[in-house]
Formats: sequence, C-alpha cells, structure tokens
Amino acid sequence: MKIALDHVFSALSLALDLAENVPYGHGRRVAFLSLKVSEKIGLDREKMSQIYYAGLLHDIGMSNAVAEQHFRSDLAMLHAEKGSEIVKGLPTGDKISGIIRYHHENWDGSGGFKRSGNQIPLESRIIYAVDQFDIRFDRFKDYYGQISHLMEWLEHNSGKMFDPEVVSVLLRLMEADKFWLDMIHFDEVYTRPDVVFNNVVYLDTQDLINIAEVFAGIIDTKSRFTYNHSKTLARIAMDICKKCDIDQLTSSKIYIAALLHDLGKLGVPNEILEKADNLSDYEFYVIKSHPYFTKVILNQIDGFEDIAQWAGNHHEKLDYSGYPERLGGDQLTFYDRLLAICDMYTALTENRPYRKGLSHRQAMEILKQSAKRGKIDSEVLDLFADIG
Ligand SMILES: [Fe+2]
Ligand SMILES: [Fe+2]
Ligand SMILES: [Fe+2]
Repeated sequence: MKIALDHVFSALSLALDLAENVPYGHGRRVAFLSLKVSEKIGLDREKMSQIYYAGLLHDIGMSNAVAEQHFRSDLAMLHAEKGSEIVKGLPTGDKISGIIRYHHENWDGSGGFKRSGNQIPLESRIIYAVDQFDIRFDRFKDYYGQISHLMEWLEHNSGKMFDPEVVSVLLRLMEADKFWLDMIHFDEVYTRPDVVFNNVVYLDTQDLINIAEVFAGIIDTKSRFTYNHSKTLARIAMDICKKCDIDQLTSSKIYIAALLHDLGKLGVPNEILEKADNLSDYEFYVIKSHPYFTKVILNQIDGFEDIAQWAGNHHEKLDYSGYPERLGGDQLTFYDRLLAICDMYTALTENRPYRKGLSHRQAMEILKQSAKRGKIDSEVLDLFADIG
C-alpha cells in the first residue's frame, strides 16, 4: 500500500473531534488556520507542514486524558502531555511531539508547564490561539454578530494567554471577509494545502499498521470495558487469515480494519459505553452510530476503501438485522463476515468488569446458535473451531 500521510492524519482528526465532542472538522480548521498564520509570520515550508500535521492531531491525547482525569484535575496539561507521547508512535510524530506538548501553554507563564514567551515553541503558540478561537466561534450562528466580540476577546488575551505577534496576525486576517466566509464554508473550501501538496509524504503498509496500532490503543484505552478489545480482535483475525492462507497485503488490510473497527466509538460517551444494561432507545441509537462513523472517517482516505468497508460493516448481520446499513446476504463479503464474527467472539471471551469472559466452548455455542438463526455465516464460523 502507498497512502498519503496527510489523508490519513486529516481523516483521523475527525475521529479526534468525535472523542473531544467538538464540532466536526475542529482539527482540520485548527490545521488550516495555523497554516494561514504561519504563512504571514513567514515560517519555512518544513515548519509549515509540521504545524499542519500538529494542528490536525493537536488533541490526540484528549480521549486518554479524559479516561484518567479522575486522578488529576488539570485536563489541559494532561491531554497535551499524553498527546505529545502518543504522537511519537506515528510517522513524523517526533517532529510534532514538542508542538503538541505546549499547545495550551500561556504566553505569560501561567500555564501548566510554567513556560513563558519564547520558551514556548512558536508553532504551539499559533495552534493555541487558533484552537481557542475555533472552540469559541459558532459557525452555524450569525457570524456577523460574533466578529467584534471574538476580536476583542483575542486582544484582551494578547500577552496573557497568547503571543501578541500571533494575535496581531490573526486580527489582521480577521479584518477580511474571506476569513469568516472560509470558516463558515469550511467543509467546501477545505482541501489539501499547497505546502503538503507539493511534497506529499507516502506511507507504506508498515507505517499504516503502526498508525492503526496507535489508534487502536486510543480506542481501547477510552473505557475500561473495552480494554484491549481492538488489539485482541486483530490478533484473532490474523490467526484466521494465516489459517486460510490469505495473501500478505489482504491480511495487512484486515489487520488494520480490525484495529480500527471501533474508531467511531470515540464519539460514544463513556456513560453510555459503560452502562451494563437498560440502555434507553436514544442511548442504543448513539451506540449504533459508531460503525457509521468508522466507515465515514476511513472512507476519507484514498486507498482505504476495502478497509473502510470491512471495518464499518462489523455489526451487519446476514439476515439484514444489523446496523447501521441493514446490509445482509450477498452484500456482505467473506471479510465483512469474518470481522463480524471476530468481533462477537472477542466480546464474548473477553473479561468485562461486570462479568468474566466466556470459555472458547461457551462462546462457540452461542455463536453457533446465532449461525443457526441465520445471523452469521456458519462456514466462516467453522474457521474459529480451534482458535483461542
Ligand atoms: Fe487541546
Ligand atoms: Fe482543540
Ligand atoms: Fe463495534
């Protein structure tokens, strides 16, 4: 596989928006605006592409930080710290780790790391101002009424939270109508920026596996209920692929799809995810949206079409009773069916805080019943007979 790194980061930034519960496209807007500011400041091309990637992934530590927050109260510092560690596992991550670490540091030294002024990387100072602006700007409300208020707010925080130079560049950009129109019509105007376009970084299969493993870690750490679920499922899927002599490339794609199948769960609040039973209709509706988001997000990556389909179909059932698309029968390929069974098998055999995992035999018994009722593929299920 040969896939553009910016496509992957840009798509996965949508998953981070879900995790943070911020309006869709927040990471993309932060990346886009950070580039605009750095262009005016005159950063070189190398720095500009780094700020773009850092902007996309700036809140990569949020989901894990929220999961741990009960131990510590300073979420701003905690997620920045976590994020700076997590990105090190990604291609080019070493270069943006420091930017992410200080993206909530106040110019006046009152932030979590007690750095001030030029001790904070310029890229972090840019992302901080732009990030805080985007959180406060409501694109779906009358924008005209928000302009003066937001500009005053920026001015007020110049020299306190934000670098005065960054604020003055941002204010100058905001004087043009285009700035606001771009924000409102962001979904239409957002494209791969020139700085990346002229120097596309391609990822190979191993890079993609590394990225998928990092995100599987983020997904699994979100809740103690799903601890290790994606990684265990992926291992089981690999056992089956080996058994069936599936070629190397397809196996790698299956592995990535397995690791990322629950990507959309980043958007499901833990109160719902961790509720053992008695889900309301609404809560169940929220849970059922997760494979939808998995597919939508992965489909944004050119070359990930198969992966998006297999990952997004893991809750579909042969008898058309699954979700979110009510697919069934011939619409579900061997790999769709395989991942669906891997998911059920893993869920049944895993320990959960409220129950112990079932044995291989017990799980197979339940799955055979399911196959008898026409929900899952009995031939694919036979492949599971001697695993575990
Ligand atoms: Fe942040
Ligand atoms: Fe943010
Ligand atoms: Fe799922």
